[in-house]
Amino acid sequence: SPVVAVLPAAGSGVRLGAGVPKAFVEIGGVPMLVRAVDGLLSSGVVGHVVVVVPVEQLRDAVGLLPDRPVTVVPGGADRTASVAAGLAAIGPDAEVVLVHDAARPLTPAGVVRRVVDAVRAGAPAVIPVLPVTDTVKTVDDSGTVVSTVDRSALRAVQTPQGFRARELRLAYARGPDPATDDAGLVEALGEPVATVAGDPLAFKVTTGWDLRLAGLLLEDASA
Ligand code: C5P
Repeated sequence: SPVVAVLPAAGSGVRLGAGVPKAFVEIGGVPMLVRAVDGLLSSGVVGHVVVVVPVEQLRDAVGLLPDRPVTVVPGGADRTASVAAGLAAIGPDAEVVLVHDAARPLTPAGVVRRVVDAVRAGAPAVIPVLPVTDTVKTVDDSGTVVSTVDRSALRAVQTPQGFRARELRLAYARGPDPATDDAGLVEALGEPVATVAGDPLAFKVTTGWDLRLAGLLLEDASA
């Protein structure tokens, strides 16, 4: 059965300060959103990608993605609204839906395959995760430490996140929720969320530092 991916790429990229929306910033001469689409398709398990971009960039995005099984649609004010717009463009026959970030352009195909395999094995929701290596503390308003969190039980969450289409549609049908990830909405339905191994290369490009790192990693890979 077909796997469809939603790729939100409609963020403004204010924190990156590149002057163009983040997903259109190039790494090694290729825009992040193109790298993200091709990464999903190269996994061999994704049949179609719904790319969600700022309305002003619709034509540009279509032009950047020739000869690929994609649909390009305009996004919303926040990531949740953009994913909802992408979901609305998915055909009724999709059984497995991935939700990824254009801002994770170096995500290896293996992560995509692990997530899809786990959904196919029966999990309603699956997220790729990494162990947290730094010690994490909570602080009060003045910045004074309140407590030290047990690091062994913490995981940093990446994308693509995978879902049975029915559960993801239900989660989004409940209306906007200030969840910071899609699995959070499915959690709120009371469904179990499974984890698979993420990959350091699936890191999110947020700041100029991340952009430099992504460029260096690409040079390294092609050397
Ligand atoms: O801002 P952040 O890095 O968390 O965004 C994660 C992903 O969500 C990015 O790929 C970004 O383009 C996308 N996004 C979106 N629509 C928004 C805000 C963010 O598609 N309104």
